[in-house]
Amino acid sequence: MEKLIITGGKRLNGTVAISGMKNAALPILFASALTRDTCILQNVPAVKDIETTVAILSEMGVTVKYLDPTTLEINGKNFKPCTSPDKFVRKIRASSYLMGVELGLAGRTRIAFPGGCDFDGGRPLDLHMKGFEAMGAEMRTYSDGYMGEAPDGMTGARIYLNKASVGATVNLMLAAVLTPGTTVISNAAKEPHIVSLARFLNTCGANICNAGTSDIHIEGVSALHGCTYRIPPDMIEAGTYMAAVAGTGGKVVLTNVYPEHLQATIDKLREMGVTVMANNALETVTVISDGKLSAIELETQFYPGFPTDMQPQFASLMAVAKGTSVIREVIINGRFAYLEQLKRTGVKTIGETKDTAYIEGVEHLTAANMTATDLRGGAAMVMAALMAEGTSEIRNVHLIDRGYDVIERKFSALGADIRRCDDDPDAQTLSSTKAPLQSPT
Ligand code: EPZ
Repeated sequence: MEKLIITGGKRLNGTVAISGMKNAALPILFASALTRDTCILQNVPAVKDIETTVAILSEMGVTVKYLDPTTLEINGKNFKPCTSPDKFVRKIRASSYLMGVELGLAGRTRIAFPGGCDFDGGRPLDLHMKGFEAMGAEMRTYSDGYMGEAPDGMTGARIYLNKASVGATVNLMLAAVLTPGTTVISNAAKEPHIVSLARFLNTCGANICNAGTSDIHIEGVSALHGCTYRIPPDMIEAGTYMAAVAGTGGKVVLTNVYPEHLQATIDKLREMGVTVMANNALETVTVISDGKLSAIELETQFYPGFPTDMQPQFASLMAVAKGTSVIREVIINGRFAYLEQLKRTGVKTIGETKDTAYIEGVEHLTAANMTATDLRGGAAMVMAALMAEGTSEIRNVHLIDRGYDVIERKFSALGADIRRCDDDPDAQTLSSTKAPLQSPT
């Protein structure tokens, strides 16, 4: 097990290149199994969830070759549905996308219960199941996971989602692209990852219209072909670095970003008193902050609203903002587990319910030992440690590695004092510029 050791109080300055979007790359990797041809995916982030996905696909017969650390060559010719390895499926939430792929290709599916960040409110898949059933599959749970079969084959259907779920929208798109007839997903998620998945699939010959709106139309096609596709930049990784600069003070230029994906985050940072300059043509965002922040009210919403995946990082900013801030978490129940850890640094809440937190700004945070509770909660702890006086330690770094490409290397390059160590006190420091995550051969 590894931990991060961070000595706070350093301003962040310089340039940081943002990696590809994890939550777009994951469904696109699974979607690559829908074609028997070769796909080349560029700008794939070097994060743990991608490694796990590659391990799942490889065990199912897909050939995955790293052409360089962020470019993958994938061939799904030998993909064997219903053979997913339980131990890897249980590690990530996105493994649920295998259901859509398997039903679309073979009319049957079997997977272990998917894992991923564990929130207090649970993460149901009922909307995925309902959609598959509307398309002709009979779905059921068994002791270890989910199974389904379409006795008369899958057919296109009109599906209404009770919530604009990202996962359900992805899964139903994956199931529908090779399914005969027309599928319409109403109240679909509009997140950039959905648009990106549709672009990838359409480049492979799918017929998907209106992705990015509430009503996605999919006309089933008989086969997909290979393509080369570049994953767009990760708006949450970008938002995290922007928020970190806001909190520590300094001036940082983010490159490889799409400012239009960051509007809600930019807007809230400006409201807190931070200078943010976006350049669409250059695909850069510049953040300038003196570290003096004002309290804000924030409510998470489906895209283009403020992303739930950025609310923990903003809690760390609110902790030192003048006045009382409010977070209303509307999308994911019970996404406040990280707050208990943040309080160790002096973060002060003056009221908390299941979905609302009131945070009163304090003068400064103090170093503390914390344990990451989940991916974005862990990122919020890194931010708090960067702002705090003294040296903090953060355990459970593997949860942060799920979605951030060697976080200590990017922060070190911006001037932060951050390094990774083995959690075993007798083990040696692993250094602040750890080698990139190993690419499977
Ligand atoms: C995706 O999770 C992301 N994960 C999450 O990112 C992100 O927090 C979330 O979308 C919201 O934006 C991936 O893309 C791999 P949802 P997902 O289905 O698909 C309810 C991160 O940090 N719901 O849009 O699981 C659900 O309980 C991660 O990168 C149902 O009720 O989220 C939640 O309240 C964490 N029934 C809401 O919808 C269902 O069948 C949104 O969930 C499905 C969802």
